[in-house]
Amino acid sequence: MERTFVMIKPDGVDRGLVGEIISRIENKGLKLLNLKLICASSDILENHYMEHRNKPFFQDLVDSMKDKSVLAMVVEGENSIKLMRIMVGDKDPLCAFPGTIRGDYAFETTRNLIHASDSLEAAEREIKIWFGDKL
Ligand code: PPS
Repeated sequence: MERTFVMIKPDGVDRGLVGEIISRIENKGLKLLNLKLICASSDILENHYMEHRNKPFFQDLVDSMKDKSVLAMVVEGENSIKLMRIMVGDKDPLCAFPGTIRGDYAFETTRNLIHASDSLEAAEREIKIWFGDKL
């Protein structure tokens, strides 16, 4: 069984898409191991997006999410990392296929609703950042 980290970003929480997104995850057969609604600090966001710190969008990305509610989740299932990435869709909603979460509900990269870890290493690192060592 593989674990991945999934986060519904502030735009997804604000738009009331939490239930819809969780339904998609559970209907796929993946299991929610843990979840929490948390006000994201700039420290945790900077740590989470650390690998992008030199990209031009980094500060705007952190600023757009900081001090806002996000839903942090640990999702478990066979091939959960790859499955979640497919379900999430391309980071640019204009390139995301219909049937994916971003393809169905998002319309711009700066408000693309959801994050899912892109590798086993990222999943382990991100679960630790948001949930600590206990999981
Ligand atoms: S890149 O540019 O390909 O290296 O970046 P990528 O790994 O695809 O994306 C890293 C995260 O940054 C988000 N992103 C952006 N946010 C705001 N504005 C712009 N222009 C932008 N470009 C990328 C992207 O959605 C990724 O965040 P998560 O939360 O993982 O989706």
